[in-house]
Amino acid sequence: MSPAPAAAPAVPARKITTRRIEFEYPTSQTPRHFMNGDPAMSHVVAMLSSVFPEGEDMFVRSVRNYRDRITEPELKKQVGGFIGQEAIHGREHRSFNEHLQAMGYPTLFIDRCVHYGFFHGSRLLPKSWQLAITAALEHYTATLAETLLGNAEARAEFGPEDLSAASAQTLLLWHAVEESEHKAVAFDVYQTVCGSHRIRVITMNLVTLGFLLGTVAGSAVALLLDGHTYRHPIHTARSVARLRRSPWLRRDVARRIRDYNRRDFHPEDHDAAALLDEWRGRLFGASGTLNDRIRTTAGAA
Ligand SMILES: [Fe+2]
Ligand SMILES: [Fe+2]
Repeated sequence: MSPAPAAAPAVPARKITTRRIEFEYPTSQTPRHFMNGDPAMSHVVAMLSSVFPEGEDMFVRSVRNYRDRITEPELKKQVGGFIGQEAIHGREHRSFNEHLQAMGYPTLFIDRCVHYGFFHGSRLLPKSWQLAITAALEHYTATLAETLLGNAEARAEFGPEDLSAASAQTLLLWHAVEESEHKAVAFDVYQTVCGSHRIRVITMNLVTLGFLLGTVAGSAVALLLDGHTYRHPIHTARSVARLRRSPWLRRDVARRIRDYNRRDFHPEDHDAAALLDEWRGRLFGASGTLNDRIRTTAGAA
């Protein structure tokens, strides 16, 4: 049985646009180590991309479980935007992952492992815990997304800026914009239907452990399966050592992740409005680089 809900928060209006977008990745134009020639970083990003489709399906299921209990019109509308955005993210990452698989990354194997864990494993948990896991992982995706959008050093890990529809960089930037747009939805649904701070903290701690172990183990195995590791061991070792200085592993990012366990935390404590305006403009504004890739939009304000 779900715990009794705490006082439901008032939900402000938010712009959560479902952009039905289609990317394409000409194989000939993507170097094997697409993160600026860095093998370790390429495997980490490929690993994260492999997890997204099944992960996002689970996010959608866990929020949809409570859709009928959301009565506030604004939150109801945002749940629709959240589901729409995550569905397209899953589809586009699947297509990117097929491309990575053809390039030698074990994305399909990781996808199957994640399916087993998220689809079968999460069903053993109460629905309130499934939703709490989604809210915790959404905090991770929003934190990583806003690091990408706001930190030029993080974007430089992709190499020179390329905002065309054929680059991994653009796929991640589009995904980052939408993760930031809907970062509060799963959390607000959780606060509305459950709200237990204890469950929120326990699940966040478990998610942190699983996220770190999964990313490290998955990326390490993928690196060990990569012939480059054996042909160029020193280059690979330097690339692994560089991860320690990655902008994604800085103290401010870790502090922001930990912030989630504060009793009075809310995802919008981290204001990303200016960042979102900037990147919506660059990707989808009057001369946005992705405009010709968008088939339809829904929910745009
Ligand atoms: Fe997503
Ligand atoms: Fe998300």
